[in-house]
Amino acid sequence: MRIAVVPGDGIGGEVVPAVLPALSLLSDHFRLGLSFETFDWGAERWLAEGVGLPSGALDMLASDYGAVLLGALGDPRIPDMAHGRDILLGLRRGLDLYVNYRPFTPAGSDRAVALFRENTQGLYAGVGGTVAQGGRPAVAIDECVYTRETVERFLRYCLRTLSDSGRKRVTLVHKSNAVPHTGRLWQEVFRAELDRHPGLVGSDEYVDSFCYHLVRDSSPYEGIVASNLFGDIVSDIGAALMGGLGLAASASICPETGYALFEPVHGSAPDIAGRGIANPYATATAAALMLDHLGHHSAAVPLRRALASAARSDAATPDMGGHGTTATFIGEVMACLEKDLSDESTVSHG
Ligand SMILES: NC(=O)c1ccc[n+]([C@@H]2O[C@H](COP(=O)([O-])OP(=O)(O)OC[C@H]3O[C@@H](n4cnc5c(N)ncnc54)[C@H](O)[C@@H]3O)[C@@H](O)[C@H]2O)c1
Repeated sequence: MRIAVVPGDGIGGEVVPAVLPALSLLSDHFRLGLSFETFDWGAERWLAEGVGLPSGALDMLASDYGAVLLGALGDPRIPDMAHGRDILLGLRRGLDLYVNYRPFTPAGSDRAVALFRENTQGLYAGVGGTVAQGGRPAVAIDECVYTRETVERFLRYCLRTLSDSGRKRVTLVHKSNAVPHTGRLWQEVFRAELDRHPGLVGSDEYVDSFCYHLVRDSSPYEGIVASNLFGDIVSDIGAALMGGLGLAASASICPETGYALFEPVHGSAPDIAGRGIANPYATATAAALMLDHLGHHSAAVPLRRALASAARSDAATPDMGGHGTTATFIGEVMACLEKDLSDESTVSHG
């Protein structure tokens, strides 16, 4: 299986190449037959050629590649993020990756909270406009659009997945007191889908008080489902509860085709780009999610073990409390992996 690799901008170009040797090692060891091809989609190409997502890219990805591993998009030279929208939203919409799965494990807990964000509509639907006066925006409108079909297919997948994973509680995050039309649609579909899963206890919370409760005590939450905007914001709180943006990963999935894109939650971090201290943990965790999704759970387990071990070492990057760099951290991950895999071979052969 071929994997399309898009490092993108800023630290994306540092953390993605750092993770590929670990993936290759695991692919060789477990005979997964994965190969990786890197694409230069991002700010440089946009500025040089005006090309974001090249024409034909979606068909090529769907027919020739099993998944996409992405770094980050965002460049101070393109303040409106036009290239990022073209590439990232182009991939999400073009491949219909309507479920964004962003698990987070709060520090001190051994249990991942499964956060699902709707990935295609809501305030990101691209409906709106600006009325200018004297060359300045005088009226600006972004419409929140949700179709019943979109909410239904999203919640159906999330509740089924939560139920299959043995989780008992799911919380819908909304703001139907102030944003009533889409809010009530979400509540109604949520209740209807809950009826299909008698083993799941559902609750719903206004996004503001939900954020307050999550920060104070995340332990009551097992599964969270949210619209595009609320899911985006809540997932950064999840990353903070884990210990930082350098740790959190996400998968964008089309359940019908099984196609998926894996990426860290963080952006291109221009403030630290080029300094060699970007944390590749989130990208490596995205790679572990990819291995799980492709059915290679036995390869994802040692990768997660190696990451946890390296994160506790002094080779960890400064955001994890270490004194290391991207290179020292990945060096430690590779050393842990090699030891783990050779111990495993010794056990299985001897
Ligand atoms: N999915 C994406 O590609 C994505 C997501 C978020 C932001 N962005 C874009 O990225 C650019 C920068 O955005 P931002 O600064 O708001 O968010 P950011 O996530 O890039 O950075 C926020 C803070 O977290 C730190 N940080 C992030 N990732 C880190 C890592 N791996 N290791 C260590 N520290 C890390 C940064 O140094 C910064 O201080 C913008 O252009 C934004 O639009 C892209």
